[in-house]
Amino acid sequence: MTASTVPFHRQWTTADASGHPQLDAEHRALIDSVDEIAHAIAERRDAPAVFALLEAVVHDCIAHFASEDAVFRQAATQEAESHIQKHRELAEKMQNLLRHASDGSMASMEMVAALLYDPLVIHMVSEDQKLYPQLRAKVPTTRR
Ligand SMILES: [Fe+2]
Ligand SMILES: [Fe+2]
Repeated sequence: MTASTVPFHRQWTTADASGHPQLDAEHRALIDSVDEIAHAIAERRDAPAVFALLEAVVHDCIAHFASEDAVFRQAATQEAESHIQKHRELAEKMQNLLRHASDGSMASMEMVAALLYDPLVIHMVSEDQKLYPQLRAKVPTTRR
């Protein structure tokens, strides 16, 4: 299996780093999970195995949103509250997607995996990134 045959393949890069160790570790783990799901689908693993991965990544992402909410609140970034509201909306969207995938068909799971790319990855590289300059200015991070 080569990376080019795997849908949604993306690896963590240093450009993704906020400098906040906990957020970076969680983002990195989410990207790794997305990659694992893409491989599971490409390798045609059985549906319950793929569904278990989808469930786990949604659970981990919702837990990550909670820790990110706390970090942005603590840093009192200007956009913290609107960002937290986005997390609520994305969490609801992910749970709805998971319900859709629970029909057990591979077709549903492939579609859900594709749609989870938005809350799991696009949110991080677009919305989260916007808050990093304020975060770096207000709390100790490892990257300036
Ligand atoms: Fe995040
Ligand atoms: Fe976020």
